[in-house]
Amino acid sequence: MKKVLVIHGPNLNLLGQREPDVYGNTNLNKINNNLEEKAKQLGIELKIVQSNHEGEIITTIQQAMNWADCLIINPAAYTHTSVAIRDAVSSINIPTIEVHLSNIYKREDFRQKSFIAPVAVGQIAGFGEMSYYLALEAAAQLKK
Ligand code: DQA
Repeated sequence: MKKVLVIHGPNLNLLGQREPDVYGNTNLNKINNNLEEKAKQLGIELKIVQSNHEGEIITTIQQAMNWADCLIINPAAYTHTSVAIRDAVSSINIPTIEVHLSNIYKREDFRQKSFIAPVAVGQIAGFGEMSYYLALEAAAQLKK
């Protein structure tokens, strides 16, 4: 069974209440439940982690080396700032899919740079919660 780790970065625990015009009305629990359901249909074993802390995210990425076949990550604001998360992703040698609920390229200038994209297989952005579900489908298709 393919093993996929999903990491939600900072402030994503507030989904549903946080800027619903930008990020939608669905909370993180509901998104995670939908991911679990989809994973069952796709024959994927899933682990899901949310963290507001850069170091914790890095440790979780490093631990993925011993478990995951694929990483799906929404690094949230760290997308635009964190060389350390980028280095962690490029260190583990596990295909990584970057996810964003919003289309970061039609927002503020500071969001238009992703430190993660150059070390990811690809990026899915702008489809709201569906970005995560599309990423899981992509993960199912990726070769180990
Ligand atoms: C986000 C986009 C980021 O710019 C922002 O800091 C987030 C969420 C998204 O999913 O659209 O927290 O990653």
